[in-house]
Amino acid sequence: MPSPSDRISGIVPSGKDGWEVHFAAWKRREAGEPIIMLSIGDHDFDTPSPTVEACVTAVRAGHHHYTQLPGMPRLRAAMAGVATRATGVETGASQVIATPGGQAALYAAVQATLDPGRHAVVVAPYYATYPGTFRAAGASFTVVEARAEDGFQPSADAIAAALQPETRAILMNTPNNPTGAVYSRSALEGIARLCVERDLWLLSDEVYWALAGDGHLSPRALPGMAERTLVINSMSKSHGMTGWRIGWLTGPEGIIRLLVSLNLVSTYGLADFVSRAAAEALENDYGVAEIAARYAARRTVFLDALRGLNEVTVRGSEGGMYVMLDIRAVEPDCEKFAWALLEAEQVAVMPGASFGDAAAGHVRISLCQPEPVLLDAAQRFRRFVSTYKD
Ligand SMILES: Cc1ncc(COP(=O)(O)O)c(C=O)c1O
Repeated sequence: MPSPSDRISGIVPSGKDGWEVHFAAWKRREAGEPIIMLSIGDHDFDTPSPTVEACVTAVRAGHHHYTQLPGMPRLRAAMAGVATRATGVETGASQVIATPGGQAALYAAVQATLDPGRHAVVVAPYYATYPGTFRAAGASFTVVEARAEDGFQPSADAIAAALQPETRAILMNTPNNPTGAVYSRSALEGIARLCVERDLWLLSDEVYWALAGDGHLSPRALPGMAERTLVINSMSKSHGMTGWRIGWLTGPEGIIRLLVSLNLVSTYGLADFVSRAAAEALENDYGVAEIAARYAARRTVFLDALRGLNEVTVRGSEGGMYVMLDIRAVEPDCEKFAWALLEAEQVAVMPGASFGDAAAGHVRISLCQPEPVLLDAAQRFRRFVSTYKD
């Protein structure tokens, strides 16, 4: 075949990707082994039934056609309503653009703010697709670690030290995947001040906003930030709709207007019947409170079951769908730990090192299993830790 573009070849350079334990466990589970999968962040339950029914009704009613490029007006209005609540800033429909999932909103945010050759700072630990999203734009990035010892709270001073003349944006994520850290007001104020002083965009990934435990604070609400913040949002987590591919980007009207041309040449709008069901789900908060309560209860149950395990330290783990356990006192090599746990107890977890150096020496536990399964996994984890021999 003729050679592919450097751009497409460079998005995900080949090699080890950190998912080795997960895929090995998955294969063994498919082959019949009773492995508990705590390695992936997808709900173990279906989309709430009122949302499903709204979609069935829409598809039966003949809503099978193209929709407006920035999203159906009713959908954008509903997204703006949720953005107003989630970010604490009054938001109109012209300040949001609908995208197929949070990932496409992230892609749009990076495309909108970084030309080839420009630079961004990315706060780590971070969601695995971030590096590829910058590479797809031809932009470079510097990773700034939020330290485990600080509960994975980011430091504005460390971010400031990584800024370059070509830096145009900072990307951060709260509540955080993989650490479950919910960034504090003071951490966010530090980042916001930096963005204002240096005239930078803040790309704020808030797809877990509904799972923020004690309450979500969006940096968009801080002084001077609404005009320079692009908020990545999604119905995947909050509304139990990972497979529906619905998300949106919130930001200043001027940049949202420009982004309509990205939808023109990429998605050409969203599915008609999916958009109608999504609008109804947003207008009525279908499932949102129940899903948030479910994850909060799971987090409590799992962490309570690990209480008193002196060799293991809980870090972050305040919100989102994950808990992060520091296992360095047991085994400094988190990958070795994860493989050994899988062998000994048939529990699959993600080595923290898969999410960058800051999370090395930790394992990420997904809460996407029912409480009895999480309790069983916690018992197996305890047994493994107390009998572990290098
Ligand atoms: C931090 C973060 N951002 C974005 C996404 C993408 O979400 P979506 O499923 O809506 O594309 C995810 C998905 O897991 C995530 O964890």
